[in-house]
Amino acid sequence: MRTDKRKVALVGTGMVGMSYAYSLLNQGVCDELVLIDINRKRAEGEAMDLNHGLAFSASHMKIYAGEYRDCSDADIVAICAGVAQKPGETRLDLLKRNASVFQSIVQPVAESGFNGIFLVATNPVDIMTRITYSLSGFNPKRVLGSGTALDTARLRYLLGESLRVDPRNVHAYVMGEHGDSEFVPWSQAMIATKPILSLCGGEEDMVCREELKRIEDEVRGAAYKIIEAKQATYYGIGMALTRITRAILGDENSVFTVSAMLRGEYGQSEVYAGVPCIINKNGIQRVLSLDLTEEEKKQFHKSCDTLREGFEGIL
Ligand SMILES: NC(=O)c1ccc[n+]([C@@H]2O[C@H](COP(=O)([O-])OP(=O)(O)OC[C@H]3O[C@@H](n4cnc5c(N)ncnc54)[C@H](O)[C@@H]3O)[C@@H](O)[C@H]2O)c1
Repeated sequence: MRTDKRKVALVGTGMVGMSYAYSLLNQGVCDELVLIDINRKRAEGEAMDLNHGLAFSASHMKIYAGEYRDCSDADIVAICAGVAQKPGETRLDLLKRNASVFQSIVQPVAESGFNGIFLVATNPVDIMTRITYSLSGFNPKRVLGSGTALDTARLRYLLGESLRVDPRNVHAYVMGEHGDSEFVPWSQAMIATKPILSLCGGEEDMVCREELKRIEDEVRGAAYKIIEAKQATYYGIGMALTRITRAILGDENSVFTVSAMLRGEYGQSEVYAGVPCIINKNGIQRVLSLDLTEEEKKQFHKSCDTLREGFEGIL
């Protein structure tokens, strides 16, 4: 049974999970945070560590290591458990290992009586979110993944740097798989309400388009670059998850490119992929259908095919 306190249950207290937890605490996003991990001792240590920061925190939060039964009254169960990507390994390589991890998580969460929203970060995130949906039997509006939310943040940052505009005034999305087949629908990219493609043209056209391609490639390769340098990525995703959590708990109706089940949008169905969605206390209020060009539609369908193939034969 859900109550009026804002409660998050986090499964997987590794680098991603704890970056999320640390960010939740620093931003005072929830009132209660329960940490669950197959390594109970690790969860206990993390709870102690965070609790010792409460004296310096702007808000109070009840933080403890718990069990799956503690999910019963949570608003959100965030899943960050799994195996981290190794250097050179694609996200799809991780799939088999992480699918069996999820069997041991989603069922006990559902059995606890949990009636909130699943928020998934484990890679390959689009497929892991679809697995969570299948295993839980929840309405797909209440099962979402971080999708291309982080990639979109990286895109806005890089465009802001290149065009010398505050990223908050750059409106552009990364869509499709959170992975190698993701793409930027440039026809939909704006600075305020000015289409970014309108900046190209004339003598500078090639330079402009090459710069946009360089930015898109950099976004796509960002995770590989960070993993090569420091083995894992976690702060950015922790903050992205925190922002999505705020949108859910605050019933914001904010737009994020999360991994959502498509049911006819973009001519796709029965696949989870990163698309702009309106997020509120019920999860995905609605998927936004953008007017993609024919070429962009092809890229999106190709990405969905990759995700569909990845899911086949897993469960
Ligand atoms: N979606 C994104 O944008 C994004 C970004 C970065 C990383 N990730 C993914 O997040 C996941 C976690 O990465 P990490 O760096 O935190 O890994 P990590 O190894 O630091 O942490 C994983 C945690 O999961 C726990 N765990 C493993 N099996 C479990 C089970 N059956 N039940 C409960 N807990 C279990 C481990 O004990 C560990 O604490 C990976 O799949 C990684 O690829 C996603």
